[in-house]
Amino acid sequence: MKFKSVRGTRDVFSPEIELWQYLENTAVALLKAYGFSEIRTPIFEESALFNRSIGEDTDIVEKEMYSFQDKKGRNLTLRPEGTAGVIRAAIEQNLLVQSNIAKLYYLGPMFRYERPQAGRYRQFYQIGAECVGSDNYRRDLEIILWCVDYFAAIGLTGLKVCLNSVGCADCRPAYREVLKKYLQDQTGKLCGDCQRRAVKNPLRVLDCKVDSCREIIFGIPAMQDWLCDACKTNLSEIEADLKKEKVNFIIDKYLVRGLDYYTRTVFEIKSENLGAQDTIAAGGRYDKLVQELGGPPMPAVGFALGLERVSEVRQKQKAVATPGNRIDIFFALLGEQAQNRAAGVIRELRQQRIKVEAVFENKSLKSQMRLADQSGAKFTAILGEEELKKDSVTLRNMQTKEQKDIKLDELSQFLKTAKSEEYNG
Ligand code: HAM
Repeated sequence: MKFKSVRGTRDVFSPEIELWQYLENTAVALLKAYGFSEIRTPIFEESALFNRSIGEDTDIVEKEMYSFQDKKGRNLTLRPEGTAGVIRAAIEQNLLVQSNIAKLYYLGPMFRYERPQAGRYRQFYQIGAECVGSDNYRRDLEIILWCVDYFAAIGLTGLKVCLNSVGCADCRPAYREVLKKYLQDQTGKLCGDCQRRAVKNPLRVLDCKVDSCREIIFGIPAMQDWLCDACKTNLSEIEADLKKEKVNFIIDKYLVRGLDYYTRTVFEIKSENLGAQDTIAAGGRYDKLVQELGGPPMPAVGFALGLERVSEVRQKQKAVATPGNRIDIFFALLGEQAQNRAAGVIRELRQQRIKVEAVFENKSLKSQMRLADQSGAKFTAILGEEELKKDSVTLRNMQTKEQKDIKLDELSQFLKTAKSEEYNG
């Protein structure tokens, strides 16, 4: 019986996996440059953690969580996002010291039972970061600028930052009431979910994707007009600095995001090279979450990017070449003795991180050369009876087809020189 991967999941392998490794390595180096250190949290957590942080009325909690009971009847959920688990861990492991700033990054799979389509999966990978302990707008900026710098580093263009403020505990309640009243008059036109949300959590209506609701949203009073002075200042400071840094951004006054924990700054970064699922990174400030999850009252801000989407844009743009996983040297070995002589050399080369493949399966020279071709190797070393006598190999440059004899114990130096010339040239 043959099995298929589960709907909404996918296998990632060469050559895309090399691109993923490049995207991950570049992100990690840049996260470290911005002062973040890694945290790895479990893939599943208590369901209540997500209900509490993401919010009961969100699509994620209402419809999209992979929840189950374990054998002891514990209610568990595969993490739909990273922030809740990171904050849970930071509190539990005493990583949060008031007056200090904790900067944590993470990468790994997340799970949401969404309707699969291009760029939307049920298991997808995020790279994200959280900065806990400051309400200074420069921390919001640091997060947005990290994204901008990262996407520039991997060669993405055609991106737009959409920015908004969803207010704070001081100004949002008044706006909620305005919104509630406005939505009361429109109830008949809202989808079933939003009719309920309009009463319980009216801000969620702004995030509804149903067409009839979207039409109503464009007439709705915007949070912008209800922001308190502190929130207004926060937003205008970010705007001013983004302008100074020449970041391509717009204010999207209806942007609220699909998670309930945000306060003040929210942002999404969109690519013009993707279809409907065009948000490649998103995040914002969440000043109350740490305390709500039992930690000290510490404001925080963070983001996460979707690796599948970033990978897709990168492949569409082909902006800069990605270092691949090309074999450096392929050994075509003729006979037992050649295999014995090559084995030690191959191990030494591999210990020096030279990428080597070899055929130990007693194949004809012709079929070994075909395999060498398929491998994409830069060089092929042929070792047969004649070569053994001279303790050398016939080294073939697979691109130029030039061949020459080279001593086995000079091979490593030769390959290193060839590699450095390739990088410099
Ligand atoms: P989010 O907007 O739910 O935010 O997800 C962040 C990014 O993950 C999205 O912009 C998108 O690129 C990717 N993503 C989300 N769902 C899917 C999916 N089904 N398939 C493929 N990619 C997807 C968060 O998760 C927040 N935790 C971000 C954050 C961190 N806010 C503060 N700190």
